[in-house]
Amino acid sequence: MSQERLKNKMAVVTGGASGIGEAIARRFVAEGAEVVLFDRNQEAGERIAGELSCRAVTVEVHKTDAVREAVESLERVDILVNSAGIAHIGNLEATTPEDLDRLYAVNVKGVYHAMYFAIPRMVAQGGGVILNIASVASRIGLADRFAYSMTKGAVLTMTLSVARDYISRNIRCNCICPARVHTPFVDGYLAEKFPGREEEMFRLLSSWQPIGRMGKPVEIAALAAFLCSEEASFITGSAYDIDGGVTLLR
Ligand SMILES: NC(=O)c1ccc[n+]([C@@H]2O[C@H](COP(=O)([O-])OP(=O)(O)OC[C@H]3O[C@@H](n4cnc5c(N)ncnc54)[C@H](O)[C@@H]3O)[C@@H](O)[C@H]2O)c1
Repeated sequence: MSQERLKNKMAVVTGGASGIGEAIARRFVAEGAEVVLFDRNQEAGERIAGELSCRAVTVEVHKTDAVREAVESLERVDILVNSAGIAHIGNLEATTPEDLDRLYAVNVKGVYHAMYFAIPRMVAQGGGVILNIASVASRIGLADRFAYSMTKGAVLTMTLSVARDYISRNIRCNCICPARVHTPFVDGYLAEKFPGREEEMFRLLSSWQPIGRMGKPVEIAALAAFLCSEEASFITGSAYDIDGGVTLLR
């Protein structure tokens, strides 16, 4: 399937040590990219980097100086994928001010940080590509996801702002809006909230997608590889639903 569409490109993947980010990193390596994982999970980052013969930088994306140092340590940045993110369950009343700040710090400020330090490098290099992992929560009112939806709405609008402001600098910026994708994110949620009922709840969550199942990380990675390649050179400021029909029918 891979066509070496990212040959000679240096790609940073935040959250690259698990789930969607990991699948994107694997696909990008298969497409010929030189990949650097930015993740707070040192053990998983180093294990995956070892498997892929790529680099892992242990960094918490919500920390400004840490992201600055991590980006400065790279020779160049051609592609930036922002996949690092955290979840929170709860409506507004179940969202404390601390919850809101925590979600904002990682899911909004983390994405901002990576773009803030990568974009000047891309401008100096003559261009680049940014892909942010948003969510169906950016588009529709997901039940009990007040803080998470707030952050994913911001990821979508940051994507649009950056696409508009940097179009003349040859930087493309898009986002992907997945519905539920089967990753450790989902397994962790089920284990924490429904201990002993994981299988039943997995089936329920799967059937929430009109297509009858969750997405697979490789399916997100396939779209990511296309969007970050030259084949997508006319695409910027776009948000791609990949959601098994969720936004179609609800
Ligand atoms: N899985 C889904 O159903 C789904 C659906 C829509 C959108 N998303 C989004 O996709 C992205 C990836 O989700 P996933 O399911 O692969 O999650 P995951 O939990 O499997 O992976 C997230 C990765 O991000 C890293 N990370 C978290 N906070 C970090 C921080 N502060 N600094 C650095 N690294 C950090 C984690 O260590 C982990 O490796 C997230 O932004 C999530 O909101 C997921």
